[in-house]
Amino acid sequence: DWTPDIFVESTVEELKAKLGNDKVVMGLSGGVDSSVAATLIHQAIGKNLYCIFVDNGLLRKNEFEDVLDSYKHMGLNVKGVDAKQKFYDALKDITDPEAKRKAIGRVFIEVFDDESHKIDGVKWLGQGTIYPDVIESVSVKGPSATIKSHHNVGGLPDFMKLKVVEPLNTLFKDEVRLVGKTLEIDDTILGRHPFPGPGLGIRILGDITAEKVRILQEVDHLFINGLKKAGLYDDVWQAGAILLPINSVGVMGDERTYEQVVSLRAVTSVDGMTADWCHLPYEFLADISNDIINGVKGVNRVVYDISSKPPATIEWE
Ligand code: XMP
Repeated sequence: DWTPDIFVESTVEELKAKLGNDKVVMGLSGGVDSSVAATLIHQAIGKNLYCIFVDNGLLRKNEFEDVLDSYKHMGLNVKGVDAKQKFYDALKDITDPEAKRKAIGRVFIEVFDDESHKIDGVKWLGQGTIYPDVIESVSVKGPSATIKSHHNVGGLPDFMKLKVVEPLNTLFKDEVRLVGKTLEIDDTILGRHPFPGPGLGIRILGDITAEKVRILQEVDHLFINGLKKAGLYDDVWQAGAILLPINSVGVMGDERTYEQVVSLRAVTSVDGMTADWCHLPYEFLADISNDIINGVKGVNRVVYDISSKPPATIEWE
């Protein structure tokens, strides 16, 4: 019978035999899969695993610093790369969602390829691919899928020519979490909601600017922290905020304001393929709405998305 302890023990042995003294490079996302995969490989080969965590400027508020800290705490050999400006430059004036995804994917590949060239003699690319990614590449659109669909037509970047090591590719998500528990990975990582590779880039409708990212980060932070404080975070499969490309009128004292609208989205789901909107308590929504409108300059209206998938997808673009 499958148990997480036996899986960890046998996988670490297999990885040791397979990798020997070779170096492995791996991109981390802060998500469950890449964190668990990295921890397993780290147990097998220690500092020969070189982890890279890229700040694409589209992460949640404080996410880069927080996640980097927890990885370091776990003993991983991890390098944080601040590439925010490169992403913002590449995204300038782009409004088409697929073009945004492509730009984000392309810059990620450039940054990751640069970093992997700095690791002398690296032989392997580590990936957090899990079984559903193998059988159904649309069900989870992780960094690997992004990389595969967006590689340059001019040929594969060098890191993609490396041999691939994917220690989780026989596991389902719930098994990955059990393995993570056995490895004593922090609950804040194991229980984390899924977060798309292009991050807030697909939650800002229209063109992306650093200022819009800042506004959305503040809104998202109030919403997610609110869910945690209210004890609702673990009942929700995924949650986030969307910055709409319209302004709406409001009043402040005697003045009319014309400011931004944000939508909150929270869903329950098993695998993201179908999803129901969460029936969050009205009182909670009322409090969050007040917190956002009072706390985030430039936003004067909050709406809640009450659409289920299908037909409405979880993300807005
Ligand atoms: P949708 O919007 O298709 O989302 O209902 C289903 C799940 O996939 C995530 N998602 C993405 N993840 N790159 C990713 O890494 C993407 O381009 C992307 N688009 C959607 C979404 O967050 C949800 O968990």
